Amino acid sequence: MKKIYLMYPKEKSVIAPEIYGHFTEHIGGVFYDGLWVGKNSDIPNVKGFRKEIIDKLSAIKAPVIRWPGGCFAETYDWRDGIGENRPTRINWWTNWDKRFEPNEVGTHEFMDFCEAVGAKAYFAANLTCVPPLHIRNWMDYCLSEKGTTSLALEREKNGHPEPFNIPFWGVGNENWGGGGNMNPEFYGNEFRRFSAIMSNAFSNTELFACGENASDFAWTDGFMRTIVNSERHINGFAMHYYCGNAGDPVNFTEEEWYKQLSQAADMEKIIMRNWSIICGHGMQDSAKLVIDEWGCWHPDGSGPSKGYNLFEQQSTMRDAAVTALTLNIFNNHCDKIRMANVAQLVNNLHCLFLAGGEHCIETPTYYVFDMFKEHQGANAIETFVTDNDDFASSVSVSASVKDGKTLLTVANLSCTEDTEISLESIGKDIPDHAEATLLYADDMHAHNTFEAPDTVTSSQIAVDPTKPFIIPKAGIVAIRF
Ligand code: AHR
Repeated sequence: MKKIYLMYPKEKSVIAPEIYGHFTEHIGGVFYDGLWVGKNSDIPNVKGFRKEIIDKLSAIKAPVIRWPGGCFAETYDWRDGIGENRPTRINWWTNWDKRFEPNEVGTHEFMDFCEAVGAKAYFAANLTCVPPLHIRNWMDYCLSEKGTTSLALEREKNGHPEPFNIPFWGVGNENWGGGGNMNPEFYGNEFRRFSAIMSNAFSNTELFACGENASDFAWTDGFMRTIVNSERHINGFAMHYYCGNAGDPVNFTEEEWYKQLSQAADMEKIIMRNWSIICGHGMQDSAKLVIDEWGCWHPDGSGPSKGYNLFEQQSTMRDAAVTALTLNIFNNHCDKIRMANVAQLVNNLHCLFLAGGEHCIETPTYYVFDMFKEHQGANAIETFVTDNDDFASSVSVSASVKDGKTLLTVANLSCTEDTEISLESIGKDIPDHAEATLLYADDMHAHNTFEAPDTVTSSQIAVDPTKPFIIPKAGIVAIRF
């Protein structure tokens, strides 16, 4: 039996709600036929966006959504997506999926979506193909007070007199690769140029710099060296980490289950290594981590569109376990993390929804976000688990307190053995009853499809926190008391 210690006196920090954020790019089936069905569609919609997804995102309190990319952002011209007569363009992904960008969804439409969900927006600005003035003008268009500038008047003419709520702006995307193929010093200097202009007019926004990919810490160090002696118009350092290369998305082996999970667990080392470099440069107050793309990246073709939608993949209980493990890591390192955005929301990579035509289903990952949602804005507390050193039989844990209620989230990382847990509370009595939710399927390969949408769903279970309880193999529990 493992014992989980809940150390109430050892508060860590507040878990920024934005750690539970999302990412939507113009790629494959994320927007067209995914989120966006069009205002005249028979599919229930709110201003053209699938109502079912809006309702379910509101239910999990989605705090922030990143847009319009990803790589797409680095060739995006915001003027293509406003007003009448929008142009059709090639885009970053056209070479991959032979599709063109119709620009039906632009700034106003995306902000309609955020407003309907109740989420803040995080815009990724193009740094590769445009001068800083182009981005400053986008900010002027979006953020200037009603009736002030010409661009604010143009926004009003296009139907939105009031400024949009866009507190977060990314300055480039993956500039070590698709975003201009830069080295960290070159990007650092570009960031200095753009961020000086961007923060000059709208100082109440948070600006996030492009961080490293996975464990390319030379980028972190090179960027910090370039920026440390500047005016530092920076509020976050946006790193990406995908875990892949662990077999088929659905028909994986037990060995591949652990391979995938141990890759996901590396997120913790990457956060700590980055953080030590950031602190080493004395940048910890300016450059908290923003993990604005994370998740599993499986081989293509397993989703309902059978490969038509680029990077669309099925999600099983393995992806749910990766989600729980990753969110627990974020909670446990919340003092270092400003935001995180799972990639992506619909029909792409580690998604919460699969949708097409009249179909729309939740993946197992959706249920994890639902079970963990009360961690948002809570105070994380220290936990300790006994007998937890062997990864293949370990549990992943985090706990937080909000409004006098504790939320404990635990994932059993073993795909073959149930595990027995008891709780030991330090500094607070724990009651003998709790609200508890379990996400579990007999088969670790279980997943939802358009034909069988409820194969994996969460269920309420009875847990007495003062007594030992069982978490089944590959199961995830959220206990609130
Ligand atoms: O999420 C898909 C792509 O992965 C994004 O466009 C890019 O930023 C990353 O490489």
